[in-house]
Amino acid sequence: MIRDKQIGFLGAGNMAEAIIRGLLEQSGVSPEQLGASDPRQERLNDLKRGSGIHVETDNRKLVEWADVVVLAVKPQAAATVLEEIRNLTTSGVVFVSVAAGLTTRSIEEALGGESRVVRAMPNTPALVRAGATALCRGQHANAADVAIARAIFDAVGISIVLDESQIDAATGLSGSGPAYVFLILEALADAGVKVGLPRGTSLQLAAQTLMGSAKLLLETDGDPSQLRNMVTSPGGTSLAGLQALEEGGLRTTLSSAVEAATQRAIELGKEK
Ligand SMILES: NC(=O)c1ccc[n+]([C@@H]2O[C@H](COP(=O)([O-])OP(=O)(O)OC[C@H]3O[C@@H](n4cnc5c(N)ncnc54)[C@H](OP(=O)(O)O)[C@@H]3O)[C@@H](O)[C@H]2O)c1
Repeated sequence: MIRDKQIGFLGAGNMAEAIIRGLLEQSGVSPEQLGASDPRQERLNDLKRGSGIHVETDNRKLVEWADVVVLAVKPQAAATVLEEIRNLTTSGVVFVSVAAGLTTRSIEEALGGESRVVRAMPNTPALVRAGATALCRGQHANAADVAIARAIFDAVGISIVLDESQIDAATGLSGSGPAYVFLILEALADAGVKVGLPRGTSLQLAAQTLMGSAKLLLETDGDPSQLRNMVTSPGGTSLAGLQALEEGGLRTTLSSAVEAATQRAIELGKEK
């Protein structure tokens, strides 16, 4: 599906580099099939040296070269880039955007014609190939275009297809989610220190516990409450800990966090 495509990245930053590495190492894509454009020649030289891909300082040339274009610049730079490449994506290019908050409609309007747009919301664990990406398609993109976009993000984790009306919710949950989890990890590590563990050990135990629990859930297709019951014996230690969490309002707090972030994503989308 993507093995015969030329995939170009507009913007050669962290997200582009993570996906390029994932594609080269996981998807059987060759360096000749990948390209990136960026204003910084030095950055491009580093990327070319590390991966052997085609690099370019001219965004228009990159789009003309590619079958699939991934917009991977910061949202603030997106309008300029879209303006620059207007009318170049109307002849069969699949255009995938990771720019947070930009709707498929606004991208389609900026690109002109009947551009085939897929919008994606990845998250930072994509940098270690454990990302969760929510995707939706614009009005001219077809199922094959979505499959191409999924193949790109599956190289750095998992992808889920949603309706565009659900993308702000995914932003509030999985897009911003790593920030919540890092705060939880920081708090757990501090708590471990409070009860007598060295800081490094405490953080390591907390992080591995979080990763292992998520892995157990995903790999057994499990139900979180059942998995929780597995470690909770009557009158035991987990029950004492869980009781404190419920008294502290953990569920409500996490729910409020996801709702607040979703609301903020909706507001930011309206400002664009
Ligand atoms: N990182 C994540 O985990 C994550 C998660 C979800 C969504 N995203 C989205 O992914 C996009 C990229 O994020 P990132 O973290 O990879 O950002 P980044 O590291 O700043 O990468 C953006 C790259 O685009 C370059 N650029 C700026 N203006 C350009 C132009 N006119 N033409 C071509 N390239 C240009 C930047 O160069 P300069 O540095 O010289 O400006 C930089 O190298 C953002 O839209 C963000 O919303 C990222």
